[in-house]
Amino acid sequence: MLGNFTYCNPTKLYFGESALDGLKEELNKYGKNVLLVYGGGSIKKNGLYDAVIKILKECGKNVYEDGGVMPNPTSEKLIEGCERARAANADLILAVGGGSVCDYSKAVSVSAYCGGDPWEKYFIRFEEPDCKIIPVGCVLTMVGTGSEMNGGSVITNREQKLKIGHVFGENVFPKFAVLNPKITYTLPKYQMVAGIYDIMCHILEQYFSGTDDNTSDYIMEGLLRSLIHSADIAVENPEDYEARSNIMWTATWALNTLVARGKTTDWMVHMLGQSVGAYTDATHGMTLSAVSLPYYRYILPYGEEKFARYAVNVWNVNPEGKSKREVAEDGLLAMEAWMKKTGLVMNLTDLGAKPEMLDGMVKSTLIMDGGYKIFNADDVRAVLKASF
Ligand code: NZQ
Ligand code: ZN
Repeated sequence: MLGNFTYCNPTKLYFGESALDGLKEELNKYGKNVLLVYGGGSIKKNGLYDAVIKILKECGKNVYEDGGVMPNPTSEKLIEGCERARAANADLILAVGGGSVCDYSKAVSVSAYCGGDPWEKYFIRFEEPDCKIIPVGCVLTMVGTGSEMNGGSVITNREQKLKIGHVFGENVFPKFAVLNPKITYTLPKYQMVAGIYDIMCHILEQYFSGTDDNTSDYIMEGLLRSLIHSADIAVENPEDYEARSNIMWTATWALNTLVARGKTTDWMVHMLGQSVGAYTDATHGMTLSAVSLPYYRYILPYGEEKFARYAVNVWNVNPEGKSKREVAEDGLLAMEAWMKKTGLVMNLTDLGAKPEMLDGMVKSTLIMDGGYKIFNADDVRAVLKASF
């Protein structure tokens, strides 16, 4: 383990079929006014909305609602959410949904009283909150982002064609998260699979960095093996509780800051994916799957050792009689075959991207500097071009 770090994760988790029982206990810690945030209506169809309202009423809360949070929440919607939070004088924001609802709720929590334009403050100037922060709690319905136990908040500005994430500190992490794997059963298969790849990508963004012997890498190999195993089962039978619960738990650990300890981490696949998202509004996990292999093949020569280790330890590639490069490449071939079998989108065309968007996407891609090759605009262009 290289470097110096601190580690603290303040989010309390309630996990399992009875996880919603924990909500009552948590609600009693906050004042009367609760802003209930949710998405486009899936929670009304699957009964979760009624179950949550019942608990809120039993706890004597005044419930204010902010529904209609879209996938890839926008800066415009954020302004509306701030107005609602202030009008409700919210003591707690209860996010009931996937990563979009959780991310949006965190953005509202730091923006309602920020006194300026939150997009400019947090997503362009990357300032930290210096105002009252409304506490957030989550009831998670879709698995993948890790938003339930981290400070991430990704907002899209449609006008500026930018999709940008701000990773806030511990004071913005959800205070608690309710994780019941059964709630994810109603998720369409496309979303389930996109979430599975989002998890894989989060792990790989942290794995493919550094050359030291690092405990975090061993933890990540274990998480990847579990994810691949459970994903294969869940794709065949989405109602396999054991598989869905393992996927849910893996998602949380993939991006709750633990495995990033002692790592520089890369995040270029996410930067590319976010730029694609800004132009297409496509499902987050699918934007990542479409650019991943072109990206990994592009950087493989700079991180050959790690790609070979990945091939052997995660994809069971037999290294006997092969050069390191061949082993590394075989790992990516195995990954590619698995991605196709799992039903992931493998190119940008299938997400509605057009070659004329390329210039804009290159411009919108933020460059990170923790991976095996530090990109410039030409590298970004080459990878995006190869992803069509
Ligand atoms: O809006 P509703 O009607 O609820 O439908 C949603 C939405 O259409 C549906 N859904 C969710 N749970 C369901 C369900 N449908 C049926 N049954 C359920 N149980 O699924 C659709 C997608 O939901 P969304 O929340 O958008 O998906 P996800 O969890 O993948 O979140 C994506 C957002 O998170 C950001 C992404 O960029 C994107 O904006 N990310 C956040 C991160 C973080 N906080 O650290 C990191 C990630 O890398 C990611 O960037
Ligand atoms: Zn992601």
